[in-house]
Formats: sequence, C-alpha cells, structure tokens
Amino acid sequence: MSGLLTLRGVTADRLGELLDAGQRHVELIRSGASAPVTLARRTVTIAFFEPSTRTRLSFEKAAMTLGATVLTLGQESSTVKGESFRDTIQTLTAMGSDALVIRHHLADAAELAARWSGIPVVNAGVGRREHPTQTLIDALTLRQHFGTLHGLRMGMVGDVRNSRVARGHLNALPTLGVELTLIGPSTLLPDANPWGARTSHSLDEELGDLDVVYLFRIQRERGAGTGLPSEPSYHLRYGMSEERLSLLKPTSMIMHAGPMNRGVEIDDAVADGERSLILSQVANGVPMRMAVLEDALGGRS
Ligand code: CP
Repeated sequence: MSGLLTLRGVTADRLGELLDAGQRHVELIRSGASAPVTLARRTVTIAFFEPSTRTRLSFEKAAMTLGATVLTLGQESSTVKGESFRDTIQTLTAMGSDALVIRHHLADAAELAARWSGIPVVNAGVGRREHPTQTLIDALTLRQHFGTLHGLRMGMVGDVRNSRVARGHLNALPTLGVELTLIGPSTLLPDANPWGARTSHSLDEELGDLDVVYLFRIQRERGAGTGLPSEPSYHLRYGMSEERLSLLKPTSMIMHAGPMNRGVEIDDAVADGERSLILSQVANGVPMRMAVLEDALGGRS
C-alpha cells in the first residue's frame, strides 16, 4: 500500500521526482497530446466530507484523464444517516476501489482510511493537519516561475494556525530550499513552531525582503472565531493591497490556495493583477494530481 498521507520527512529527491512527473503532465497537456491511460481498469474513489471546488474537481479530472473509473462521494453520503467513517471506508473498499482520495474535517482521517482500507490513500486535506497535494502544486508553480525554489523567501501571511495548506508547506518547502516566515497576529500563528520557522507580526516590515507573499484566509469554520481581529482591522494590517504590492521587489509574486476572501486578505487588484500566480496554481492542480495518482497506483506515463 502506498499513497500520499504527508510530506513530512519526504526527501528533496523524492519531492523532485514528484514535481518532475507533474511537469511532464503539464507539458503533455500543453502539447495537446492525449494523456497515457495509465490508470485504465483502476477505480479511484474521491470521498469528500468537506466542501471543495479546486481539489475535488481537479482530482476527478486527473483520474478521468488517466483512464480510471471515478467514483465521487460528497457530503450527501450515508454518513448523514449515521453511518460511521470506518463503515464508509470499508464500503468504498468492498466496492472495488483501488485508491481513495480523502478530504475530511478530522486530522487523522486519511491515516485511518489507509489503515481500514489497506489500499493507497491520498490526503486531499484533512483537518488542520496537512494538504500535501496543494503543497506539491505550489512547489511546481514556484519552480515554473522562478526556475528553482532554492533560496526563495516566502512570507506565509494570515491564518497559519488553522491552515492545513500551511502545514504542508512547513513540512516540505524548507526541504526544497525555501525560507519561510510566518506573518500575522499571534492569534493566527501556531502556538508551537516545531519547524523553527521565523515569525513576524508586521507584514509591512517584511514585504521588501520577500520573493513570494502567500496569503491565507481566516478559517472561521475551524474555530478561529475567538480573539480574532475584525475583518476591516485585519485588512488594515495584513490585507494585500495595491499599496502593499508597491513595497515588494519588482520580481516578487503573490500566491493563494483559494478560496479567497476578497477585500479581507487580498484585494481585487492584487488577486487579478499580473503579479498573481493564483490561476497558475489552479491550472497546475490537474497535472500534479495526475502524477500523484499514478505514483499512488503504480501507473507510469
Ligand atoms: N485549495 C483548496 O483546497 O481549495 P478547495 O477547498 O476549493 O478544494
């Protein structure tokens, strides 16, 4: 059983292999060539117990493009009738799934699904723990834009405390040579910092040193509601505005995993401007997830 549960402890060589495989799919898509049907006769079940636009649809498209049979289970599953998560996983496995792609509010859901199913499981974002394919997508996007990740300075701005995307980045991007600074009010930064990342409470003091400003939405659905600044006061100190854009180096870029809260952590002119990599991140979702599914299922293009 393989799969992708976490990027913690994954070597730079292995991360590089996954990014190279994602880049090969980017180039195939760009060339207009048909994708190799490396997952023909395989069944990929995409089970999402939390909302999603980008991750769910890009996994669906990735699996279909590779020729897999795709089953999708959304929030309408029989868990609303009281079926347990364990019974759900065992049901999906008994139906003949060859791999599971799991999004869930519980942090250990992907690990439990792997244990209960005995088949490859891909973590598509669980609790606050990690969202590893988003991190791979973002690493691929950075490598495409800057040529290398080594020596890049990224500021991770906002609700790092509640973000599974941020944890994936903290687990893997330093391995690839990215220097991370966590920026936000103390209520939005993690209490523990086992990664030893630099922290700052002043975005304006950091902007001039950053190559990448990665913005995080305040995740009120994960209980971030206590002790938070109001949206206008957050925007005043940490919102990425056109004025703040002018404090960046001319080569610095903006990233956001989505969904965005426009007017809070990011202004329209920034999100839609020429320094934004946000739609490149989205575009890389399908090819990077094609590579992850092939890796999980032993398919090769
Ligand atoms: N970035 C991300 O996980 O977006 P979705 O919640 O829309 O999948």
